[in-house]
Amino acid sequence: MSNHNKPGQAPDTGHEWDGIKELTNPPPKWWTICFYLSLLWCLVYVVLYPAIPLVNGASKGVLGWTSIGELKAEVEKYDSQRAPYMAKLEKMSAQEILADQEMLNFANSYTNAIFGDYCAACHGRSAQGAEGRFPSLLDDDWLYGGTVEAIEETIAYGREGNMFAFKGEIPDADIAKLADFSIALSQGNKGDAASWALYEETGCGQCHGEDAKGNTDAGSANLTDSVWRFGSSRDEVIRTISSGVNQEDVEGSHNAIMPAFDERLSENDIKLLTVRVWSLGGGQK
Ligand code: HEC
Ligand code: HEC
Repeated sequence: MSNHNKPGQAPDTGHEWDGIKELTNPPPKWWTICFYLSLLWCLVYVVLYPAIPLVNGASKGVLGWTSIGELKAEVEKYDSQRAPYMAKLEKMSAQEILADQEMLNFANSYTNAIFGDYCAACHGRSAQGAEGRFPSLLDDDWLYGGTVEAIEETIAYGREGNMFAFKGEIPDADIAKLADFSIALSQGNKGDAASWALYEETGCGQCHGEDAKGNTDAGSANLTDSVWRFGSSRDEVIRTISSGVNQEDVEGSHNAIMPAFDERLSENDIKLLTVRVWSLGGGQK
């Protein structure tokens, strides 16, 4: 016990470490008040809310609040706000939705999740596509057409491009010439008469059209624009002409299958996705 405290100082507790003594000063008043207030808060909380873990779940609390209950109420509120819109969308045609900015915004926010679940894996979260594998849905370059009807048909029934493999059917030199010709066209070149003759003779025009601008019924790409469905390098174009598209038995053939969604999505969801894709920027009247 030490009795050598300075005058006016509280007595010490007798504990001393390296010359530092522990005094018996009471804690400051503000601290004591806060301490009792927080105790009181705990008691109030325990009475109002679920707090004490018991054998079959926690004590209930007089307010009857649960986090699940809060979530359910939020979801119900959201659903009931949404219901009139959904009912209205159900009755509107795709064209009508496209003409109504408010409904279009609602349809686009509703299809965020469906697009993410069913389309994004291939076409990308923002529909940008993946070069050479999945087409971008953002541009106005369409394999199968960009009208509401064409897009709806694509989503409901799927699409499967079909191009023969020309390797072994025509000389390799002609394949190389036709590849150079395709590349020249895509760069805005008009192409010379001999190339056009070879193109016609080989039967390319049957699918890609006499003007090589493609045909949306067959999904045969436009060869005169700068957008490439598959690779644009000379080697890749030679590969496309040599091995074709969706030729199962041909090595190196491009795989290009858009699955059908008519059995996986409701008619209404397909309509709303059509509206979404159409309004991404490339929709055609
Ligand atoms: C398994 C991959 C895959 C999924 C999933 C998929 N697509 Fe496709 N989609 C493709 C491929 C591949 C093509 C191109 C087909 C071709 O080249 O012949 C395509 C083509 C399209 C086209 C036509 C583009 C054009 O230029 O004409 C549209 C529109 C489209 N998809 C929309 C959708 C929507 C909407 C969904 C979701 C419901 C979806 N796709 C899901 C692979 C997919
Ligand atoms: C039976 C129809 C058919 C014939 C014949 C055909 N093509 Fe194609 N071709 C297609 C289709 C369909 C596509 C697009 C495939 C897809 O995206 O699903 C395509 C794609 C291409 C592409 C890729 C374009 C791009 O943007 O990546 C090139 C290049 C091409 N064809 C060149 C030719 C040439 C050259 C010939 C003649 C030797 C030819 N095709 C004959 C149907 C055909």
